[in-house]
Amino acid sequence: MTTASSAGHSRRDFLFVATGAAAAVGAAATVWPLVSQMNPDATTIAAGAPIEVDISPIAEGQDIKVFWRGKPIYIMNRTKKQIEEAQKVNVSDLRDPQPDSARVKEGHDNWLVVIGICTHLGCIPIAHEGNYDGFFCPCHGSQYDSSGRIRQGPAPLNLPVPPYAFISDSKIKIG
Ligand code: FES
Repeated sequence: MTTASSAGHSRRDFLFVATGAAAAVGAAATVWPLVSQMNPDATTIAAGAPIEVDISPIAEGQDIKVFWRGKPIYIMNRTKKQIEEAQKVNVSDLRDPQPDSARVKEGHDNWLVVIGICTHLGCIPIAHEGNYDGFFCPCHGSQYDSSGRIRQGPAPLNLPVPPYAFISDSKIKIG
């Protein structure tokens, strides 16, 4: 399971949000702001209840990881550069062709929400790593771009987008 313990994150702000508890793990230099969530208890969440996440503390270029139905969900506030990179890709060249617009919500292009489970054999990719400004899976080297689309390595499919909706500009509901 991915934590911020990898050296690759030591220079980044990185938020880690577990359901109901924030864990501070990792390099001393890493900042771990607490992101509040108004959610059901852990048992209810594990049974599949939707969760609401306040995304207002996530600065541009940062991401957080929350858990929904026991799965890690990355919520990334993409930079302009990341958005442009994701949009300019020739979709027909992709292994799992999907335009960026099909993977984000209209009017919220900066927000990428994906299930953080590698579609190869299920490891958890690391955000902001790899050659495509997206995610890198340390298990066998799959690389996903800033839209979570598979670009390199053995994984066959893009990182899935979970069901979610914007409740407001600063809050999303997953599930
Ligand atoms: S599990 Fe991610 S590349 Fe194999």
